[in-house]
Amino acid sequence: MRNTIQQNYSLAAEGARASELEAVQAAVELATAARDLTQNELKPGVIDRDRDMTHPTEQVKLMGEMGFMGIMTDPKYGGTGMDTLSYVIALEEISKVDNSCSVIMSAHNSLVCWGLEKYGNEEIKEKYLPQLASGEMIGGFCLSEPEAGSDATSQQTTAEDKGDYYLVNGTKNWITNGKKAGAYVVIAQTDREAGHRGINALLIDASTEGVSTGIKEDKLGIRSSDTSSVMFSDVKVPKSHRLGPEGFGFKYAMKTLDGGRIGIAAQALGIAAGSYELALAYSHERKTFGKPINKHQAIAFKLADMAMEVEAARMMVYRAAWLKDQGKEYATAAAMAKLFASEVAMKSSIEAVQVHGGYGYVKEYHVERLMRDAKITQIYEGTSEIQRLVIARAVTKGDVYLPID
Ligand code: CAA
Repeated sequence: MRNTIQQNYSLAAEGARASELEAVQAAVELATAARDLTQNELKPGVIDRDRDMTHPTEQVKLMGEMGFMGIMTDPKYGGTGMDTLSYVIALEEISKVDNSCSVIMSAHNSLVCWGLEKYGNEEIKEKYLPQLASGEMIGGFCLSEPEAGSDATSQQTTAEDKGDYYLVNGTKNWITNGKKAGAYVVIAQTDREAGHRGINALLIDASTEGVSTGIKEDKLGIRSSDTSSVMFSDVKVPKSHRLGPEGFGFKYAMKTLDGGRIGIAAQALGIAAGSYELALAYSHERKTFGKPINKHQAIAFKLADMAMEVEAARMMVYRAAWLKDQGKEYATAAAMAKLFASEVAMKSSIEAVQVHGGYGYVKEYHVERLMRDAKITQIYEGTSEIQRLVIARAVTKGDVYLPID
């Protein structure tokens, strides 16, 4: 399957020789492959995994075999070499059903693989990327702390410069893949006086002495994904594991989060689209007052709003991905896409529960899980309030986001 996607994609990506039709065919093939994986392998068992907080280990392995765990990573490091648009197409399909799997894939690809490939040196790229891109090793991104969430420059974790290594001490909170990760990107303060310019991003192997993890968090949604604290106690990290130049760590976090927000926007889009698809199907089956419920205007209008909002969110998410693929500025577009898509995910999933009535309130019909999963898309990788701050700063700076620039 991985080879087929790769072949089709390469064909479509051959620049001048590739017709638009081939590119569309490749996108359809990718969406179909992601949909088949989701419906055949992720959907069975998703209710039980959610209830029991069981990590989707086997499912992540399959995602690795499909090439999804290194979807944007260069094939020379064992990745699939696709673009951001392909990444969001795959994430949307997976997120229609299993948002634990999609957040594992998103944080791993956007915040670890992408940043390591862009800012790591050749030695650590060759050592870690092939394991990460195959899904054999999962990556975790450690920025948040008990006292540093939205205010991400207030890092209390320290990376003391000891000559040829850094000595890392501190605690990170809410880390996706916390207990399952084989490697973490850790953001830590080296030079306090230099403020955010004294922060470093370090790749730390989870097997290093002094690394430990807390309990798996018992969450409202994305329950089978692994979220925990990660603790660092006198952890020695070689200088060669620094990503980017000295003091680049905060920018590493911001730059990877710009791409990460496109991933979470795609997840939110998937939740919205999945909720809509379930509500639409149910509205054909369920009859009241002698006709299918979608023949009643009260339900038909809900479906109309859901369809319109999903479409609008999809355009914004695709556009942010496209800007990134074109090498254009995408931070504001990513913030807009995440903010909008996460609000649509919340609204659409609540309406899907409403369309299902009492059936929507029980686990068997899947929509209550999507509603619980939707909430986190308004919180992680920058809350909705932080996205508004990012957009407001760009707008008031006169850096107006125009459709074509
Ligand atoms: N790209 C590159 N550089 C950027 C940047 C960007 N998008 N945004 C800011 N910077 C740079 C600025 O230019 C500035 O650098 P200079 O001083 O050298 O010019 C520096 O970073 C500091 O910027 P600000 O003054 O704007 O910093 P701030 O303190 O006002 O914070 C913020 C900005 C946008 C609020 C930022 O702190 C932020 O994004 N907070 C939210 C953090 C977040 O998203 N956390 C999510 C946790 S990870 C997670 O959830 C993953 C998971 O597991 C699922």
